[in-house]
Order: sequence, then structure tokens, then C-alpha cells
Amino acid sequence: MKAKSGKTVPQVRIAGRQVPSNWPGVIRYYWDLLPVKKQECVVTLHEGNTPLIRCRNLERKINAEFQLYAKLEGLNPTCSFKDRGMTVAITKAVEEGSRAVICASTGNTSASAAAYAARAGMRAYVLVPQGNISLGKLSQAMIHGAKVIEVEGNFDTALRLVKEITARFAITLVNSINPYRIEGQKTAAFEICDLLGRAPDYHFLPVGNAGNITAYWKGYREYLEIGRITSLPKMMGFQAAGAAPIVLERVIEQPETIASAIRIGNPASWQAALAARDESKGAIDMVSDDEILAAYKLLADSEGILAEPASAASVAGVIKKQREGFFGKGEVLVCTLTGHGLKDPDIAIRHSPKPVRLAADLRLVEDFFKQEEGR
Ligand code: F0G
Repeated sequence: MKAKSGKTVPQVRIAGRQVPSNWPGVIRYYWDLLPVKKQECVVTLHEGNTPLIRCRNLERKINAEFQLYAKLEGLNPTCSFKDRGMTVAITKAVEEGSRAVICASTGNTSASAAAYAARAGMRAYVLVPQGNISLGKLSQAMIHGAKVIEVEGNFDTALRLVKEITARFAITLVNSINPYRIEGQKTAAFEICDLLGRAPDYHFLPVGNAGNITAYWKGYREYLEIGRITSLPKMMGFQAAGAAPIVLERVIEQPETIASAIRIGNPASWQAALAARDESKGAIDMVSDDEILAAYKLLADSEGILAEPASAASVAGVIKKQREGFFGKGEVLVCTLTGHGLKDPDIAIRHSPKPVRLAADLRLVEDFFKQEEGR
């Protein structure tokens, strides 16, 4: 098989089908649909090609007559969807001769920027809200060698500072206001259509800075334009209730939510998110922290999927809409699970039963199992 770049892709046969044995990353796989020009500049960790999983247990639990799929973006190299955008942003920075990148982040962007900058041999600066970033994400940025700057303030403050710095220094900004980030992230929509053989009826995703909903919508529209799909999904974005500027139609000065990834009060792509909502005839709505946590646990115990709380906002959105009787029979829903739950193990531990502690004594252990297994 030839990739769109004209290169031969190694093949293996799985379940009677030829599939590439080493996925080349989103730039090389979707070469014709991305703005990269020089093969030799590509910086990739073979991101993308993430699983799209049917969630039948969850469907049963919420009495769904629709089909629910989860796109597991936590299975990207740095465990979030940001890698799709970062491979393109860093590759373009290399093409343009940049030596340093910078971003503001609630954590995942900084982890991804740090990793891809390391691979490219570039300097990375990341500004994160002090005390409001999960340990997993902070540790990623640190170990990949980024200069981590903790800002006394929230994400919105950090992003403002980053914009000022890039106006004064020759450092490339790799937040999603960099259009190459959006270009890379649109590939998730391509993959969904390639796998389903069609576009879903609804696409659910969490909304923070609103880059990802913008990117998916661009991806779906481009696939329609080139005839790979014949319909478009309704885009369904969900904000956390304490950080819902788009829903409430005003900047939130002090956003608050357990889902720290989307603790954002003034999203950069606000207008583009409204366009995605309106053009697709979708919705942008909000879910409470309790609804987010319930969806987070439901995914973990009914499907074996550990996504971070921000990601679970998409599933919480499905549950909310299902309660309103929103869906038709047989409709196809996709939820993007944007980041891996291991980014934030504290939350998993805080919301689970404590481990049982037993002395290493067979009689005690046996008693325990008698109780558990009922003999
Ligand atoms: N889910 C996760 C896990 C995220 O990290 C983010 C954003 C979003 C959803 C929302 O995506 O901003 O494109 O609307 N994280 C950014 C960061 C802000 O800095 O890592 P969005």
C-alpha cells in the first residue's frame, strides 16, 4: 500500500485485513490534507490512529437506543489529543527555522510541547497556573526538559503573558491560536470517518480554550468537501459549569472545576466554537462537577476506560442529553476522550474505595475471601 505521501507503508495482516504495521503519524498519513511542505522537517512520535471503541455497556446503562463510540485520545504518545496538533506546530516551527517554543497550559499542551520540542532539539517554555495542574502533566513537562514557569494566576492570565512574550521575543507560540495546531487536530475527525465509513450524527467533546471543537469541525467540513463523507455531524461541546463562559455568554474571571484541564474563563477560540455550534446545528452546554465525576466513574467501571475528568465531560454531556430524550433510534454518537486518566491519579484514588489492608496471614486472607466469594 502507498501512503498519500507516495511512500510505501509497511503492512501486516490482522483479522484478514492488510493494515499498516507502523503507523507513520498524522502528518505522513494525511500528507495531502496538511500544510507541511518538507518531509525532512517532520517531527513525529507516531501520534494518531487512536482506537474508536463501541461502548455497549454504557449504552445499556443509560438505556440508549443509539450507538456510542469513544475516541481514545489518551492513547497518543503524551497521552492526550494535543500531540496531533503539536506534531504539525513543531514541524512548521522547524520548517520556519525557529529554535524555541512557548505555550500557556492547563497541563496537556505543556506536556506535548515539551516532548515534541525535545524530539526536535528545540527549547520549550511552558507557563502553567500554579497549583492547578495535575502532577502527571507537570512531571511530563519537567522530565522532557521544558523551562516550567508557574504563574500566580489561571490559564487565561498565563495565555495573556505568553502572547506578550511572543510579541517581544523570537519564540514560536504553540497554543491552539497557532493555526497549525488546529490543522493537526482536525485529523481526529478524518480518522473517525475513515473507521466508521461515514460521519457520526453527533460529535461530543469537552470545551476549554475551544481549539479542539474548532479543529474537528474543520476536519469534518474538509472531508465533506473532498467527498469522503456525505453528511456532517452536529457538534456538541460541553464546558464545566464553573468554567462555562461560552454557555453563559460572559468571561468568567475565576473559573472553578475539578476538571482542571478545562478550567478556562476566556477561551481563545470562542468565536470559532460558536461558528462550529451554529453551522453544525449543534449545541454548547455545561455539566456540573458531579455529573463529570459520575461519567468518569461510569467509564472506568462499566467500560474499563480511564479518561481524565475533563474528558468525561463529553460523556456527561451524552448522559444529560439522553435524559432530555434528545436522540433518535440508531443514531451514531462519538465522544472524544481527550486525555488519559493516569494524568491525574489523585482524583482516581480520591473517588474510589480504599484498598483492603490485611496481615500476611493465610487465615485472615482466607476469611476475607470467604466473605467476598460467599463460601
Ligand atoms: N480535554 C483535555 C484533557 C484538555 O487538556 C483540554 C485542553 C481540553 C479537553 C479542551 O480542549 O482547549 O481545545 O477546548 N487543554 C489545554 C491545555 C487548555 O493547556 O492543555 P480545548
